[in-house]
Amino acid sequence: MKLSKRLSAISALINKPVDVIWDCCCDHGYLGIALLKRSAAKQVNFVDIVDTIMVELNDQLKQLSSTLPSNTAWDVQCQDVRAIKLNQNQQNVVVIAGVGGELLLNLVAGIMANNTKAALANTRFIVCPIHHTYTLRTGLIKLGLGLESEQLISENNRIYELIEVSVSSPAALTRTGQSMWDLNLPAHMQYLDQLLNHYNKMLNKDELYFQKVITDYQSLNDYKNDDFNH
Ligand SMILES: C[S@@+](CC[C@H](N)C(=O)[O-])C[C@H]1O[C@@H](n2cnc3c(N)ncnc32)[C@H](O)[C@@H]1O
Repeated sequence: MKLSKRLSAISALINKPVDVIWDCCCDHGYLGIALLKRSAAKQVNFVDIVDTIMVELNDQLKQLSSTLPSNTAWDVQCQDVRAIKLNQNQQNVVVIAGVGGELLLNLVAGIMANNTKAALANTRFIVCPIHHTYTLRTGLIKLGLGLESEQLISENNRIYELIEVSVSSPAALTRTGQSMWDLNLPAHMQYLDQLLNHYNKMLNKDELYFQKVITDYQSLNDYKNDDFNH
């Protein structure tokens, strides 16, 4: 199974071997299986809350077992992502992709509340939400997470924000993802237009808040014009 562009971009961020990868909200498990196949970690844990999905995935992994590298173990955990237990003596990469930004924030907050500071200090979060990225980023900043990397991924006429954060990064995460934009690229400009259109429609819900969101996104264009003028 060939990974989608979005899942490939996530996989590419795990470019040095780590101890444990958590494929959270794994559903089909495509990402975790690809990571297992290339021994990206000593252990890959698949986590999803839906029992039927996990029974099927467990069967599939058992069938694949003889073809998988022997230096990587796997585990299937049917549970709420918020309940995962990170080990403080191991390097963890927690991946959460393909869920809404508000839920994703709630899941990261839950993991952080349920694990020790020492374990979190050894953890990188790689997140790729569907929508609500401004809310997600605002929440991640409040949780004290710093930026490791961020990029825009274009797939099937849709743009995804791929954000990597950790408590140990000193770099500031911004609400608009300042470092990921190249507004000379039509796809990035189109995504910015989409966000501005969306938040303009939201103005009648809470003018003060959404005007601030719009101003934040518009200032990305000012940076571009500044670049151009210098
Ligand atoms: C659309 S799939 C994402 C699949 C894959 N991560 C991707 O990006 O292609 C979303 C999955 O999140 C799972 N999910 C939602 N809330 C969850 C939670 N609190 N704990 C564990 N899994 C959850 C759902 O059961 C579903 O399988």
